[in-house]
Amino acid sequence: MIDRGIILAGGHGTRLSPLTKVTNKQLLPLYDKPLIYYSLSVLMLAGIKRILIIVNPTEANSYRKLLGDGSRLGINITYKEQKKPEGLPQAFIIGEEFINKKGVALILGDNFFYGQGLALKLKKALKENKGSTIFLYPVENPSKYGVIELTNKNKIKKISEKPKKPISNLAITGLYFFDNKVVSYSKKLKPSKRNELEITDLIKKYKNNNSLKIERIGRGGSWLDAGTTKDLFDASQFVSIIEKRQGLKIACIEEIALRNKWIKNEAIIKSIKFYGNCDYSDYLKNLI
Ligand code: DAU
Repeated sequence: MIDRGIILAGGHGTRLSPLTKVTNKQLLPLYDKPLIYYSLSVLMLAGIKRILIIVNPTEANSYRKLLGDGSRLGINITYKEQKKPEGLPQAFIIGEEFINKKGVALILGDNFFYGQGLALKLKKALKENKGSTIFLYPVENPSKYGVIELTNKNKIKKISEKPKKPISNLAITGLYFFDNKVVSYSKKLKPSKRNELEITDLIKKYKNNNSLKIERIGRGGSWLDAGTTKDLFDASQFVSIIEKRQGLKIACIEEIALRNKWIKNEAIIKSIKFYGNCDYSDYLKNLI
């Protein structure tokens, strides 16, 4: 049973410059809340309470100010720094002590997941004690992502990172579940041509051991990433439309904590004081 997760929020976000000149990408707003709330909420929905956030050294304090040690949410948050963005698998080397002898989930701090049935799929992946589970989503522009090719019997044929001529439209999303081998596998990886450790090379190691499982986020679900300003804007519009229509918030971390019974009303009152007078606080007031 996997009980811990890492959020990789250490990127310097150059493609979002000038927005990211003075702040970290994951602290930018996605509609009405910081981008990191969305990835954090995915781990919380899965039931994960022990979370390591990997941040860039100059922004560690901003994250601490926003989320603290997680007690406001009934969870445990610790922080580690990544000096340079040298690749996603570095998360497992930096997080070795945190992972300890357990399996771990990893989510990229700029990824957004939404849709019915997602929590169930995540909980299923947490139950696996061996191997790795990755989540796939069909996209129009696969060459921007890690891509997987399947045989017509749904077996994994090939994995490639940002292929120029993709042979499939199935992108590998930024949400991964790994057993404890992930630490030793990551240490053995060599930097790619773009001088980074590649998550797809790590996933290939699981494939070669026949221990890679795939889950599809179907057409009813949504996966977006905030790689460019246009992506960030589109995702904001998506959240704005759904929240307005339903009167419910997406990725309200306090609400998830309350529904998971990790906190009581008093903690919500603390959060309302923390945020001050704003729409988000009004929503929290309505919850209790
Ligand atoms: O979003 C899913 C995709 O993420 C996967 O399909 C790809 O296989 C995977 O390589 C990755 O591709 P990207 O090119 O989108 O990764 P990017 O370098 O943009 O990093 C994603 C986020 O992680 C971003 O917020 C920055 C952060 N990051 C990235 C690196 C390389 C770090 O915090 N540290 C790092 O070392």
